[in-house]
This record gives sequence, structure tokens and C-alpha cells, in this order.
Amino acid sequence: MSGVTQLGYLSIGVSDPEAWRALSTGVLGLEVVPGDNRASLYLRMDEHHHRIELRNDGTDDLQAIGWEVADGAALHALAQRLEDAGVPVRAGTRDEADQRRVLELITFSDPSGIPTEVYYGQPLNQRPFQPSRPISGFKTGDMGLGHVVVRQRDLQAGLKFYQDVLGFRVSDIAGPGGQPFAAFLHCNPRHHSIAMIADPRSPQRIHHFMLECNSLDDVGSGRDLCRKQGAPIVVDLGRHMNDHMVSFYVGNPSQFAIEYGWGARTVDDATWQVGHYESIESIWGHPQLSRMATPSAEPAVAAAVD
Ligand SMILES: [Fe+2]
Repeated sequence: MSGVTQLGYLSIGVSDPEAWRALSTGVLGLEVVPGDNRASLYLRMDEHHHRIELRNDGTDDLQAIGWEVADGAALHALAQRLEDAGVPVRAGTRDEADQRRVLELITFSDPSGIPTEVYYGQPLNQRPFQPSRPISGFKTGDMGLGHVVVRQRDLQAGLKFYQDVLGFRVSDIAGPGGQPFAAFLHCNPRHHSIAMIADPRSPQRIHHFMLECNSLDDVGSGRDLCRKQGAPIVVDLGRHMNDHMVSFYVGNPSQFAIEYGWGARTVDDATWQVGHYESIESIWGHPQLSRMATPSAEPAVAAAVD
């Protein structure tokens, strides 16, 4: 089954784009590309036109996850699988595709109502990525922009959907076998492109997204800049048990977190064994320094779901 191949883009609704601009350029090292109108900012982190779109719509939440497939045939096959699974699917308009800078897309919702898009044909911009502070860049390419962690009302329904319809494979499960509270899934060698937390109560769809730097020094200097600029570190430096990422988490102006990391291991489907973690732990570090404004139904998960 041909499934999605990478996390291509995120669209996030924000209420304070200027605060987002300051964090993106002052700490994260992202390049700001002007939007199509004054309501949006595009954030660039590699050769793509953008990887993150910020919409000034006041929602402060995830507004779309964009998953890439190889080509039109793969897109149409996936659309058929969605219809066969009883999921309403809509072809994106030309305007929507142009806004995303893709050739063609479809749009639908995941089992928890998260707006989801699948596309092919994201253009490459030959102008080199120009980081907004002196960093060595981000690990993206075929592994996509990083990972996103979302909340699911019914974890088992989410797991089934992302595997059976979108073609993901499970990397790890966290929590008791009969009632896991988190799942980590991959669609390429990145350990997880999406993770999901069982959380039927929180109104916010997203828990955090992760950007992986090419250098540990970029992570350390980013942490220094957070402290200098007053950006809130909500989970401090540590190394995750499952993907081995060395990272910290900074709170953003939309009251969720951005994980800023380096050094994760990758997954080889030929040899990977699904991991089972009874709780979310780190090899070292990752102390929780403050809670994000949005409560989570699972306190242990709120600390640091990688
Ligand atoms: Fe993470």
C-alpha cells in the first residue's frame, strides 16, 4: 500500500503573528517569507517554499497537517481508500493548492476532527535557505519537516486510521498494553512523523511540533537565546528514551510547545521492532519547568511526549 511519505507542512492559526515572528527568527532560526496577504506568514527551513504557514485567524491551534505522497496516482489511490473507509474527502480547489504551493491536494478530517491534507508536487526553491540566526540548518529532506504531536479522542481509532488508511507504521506504544495513552508512528526513516496522545478533553488539537537541527550546538545556542530573550522553556534539555532526540521545549505565543532537537535515531522497517514504554521517560533530563496554558487529561503526558 502506498501511503504518505513525509510530513510536508503545517498550517497553524495564530492570534499574535508578530510574537511568532520574533520567536521564529530570534530563537528558532527560521526564515520568514511574506504571505500572500497580511494575514499570513510563511516559515521556511529548507529548500521548500515554506514548511509552516501561520494564519492570523485567532484560533491558536493547528489548522491543517499536510502529508506528501509521491504523485497523482498515489493521491488518487489514497482518496479512494478514504472513500472506501467512509471518510468524506474533498478535492482541494486550485486556489487552495496555490496557497499551499502544491500541484494538487485532497482534504479530509482524521477521526478526531483534525483537518488533514494530502498533496503532491511541492515546488523546490533553488534559493538557498537563509537562517535568521547562524545555525547549520535543519534535518528535513525526505524525512519531512519534523514531527507533530496531536490529541486524539479515541487513540485506538486514530491508530487504526493512520495505519490502515494513510499507511503509517507503528514505532512505539506508551502506556499499559490494554490502554495505551500515546502512540508514535513513522512513514519514512524519521522515528515518528506523528505521535498521538489519548486526550478526549483538551480543546486544543496540537500538543507540540518538533524541528530537528543539524547540530547540537544549534540546540544549545537556541536554549541560550530563550533564556536571554525570555522565551519560556517549558521542558528543559534532555534525551528521549524512544527516538534518542536531545531536545528542549519552548512555549510559543499560541500556548503549545515547539520541541527543538538534535541527534535522533532513525527507523529501518526491515529490522524495526515496535517499542513498548510503560511510561514516558527520558534517558536523562527533560525536567518540566512550567505547564502550558492548555490542560492535558494526562499529566504525565503533558510533561514531555516526544
Ligand atoms: Fe516531540
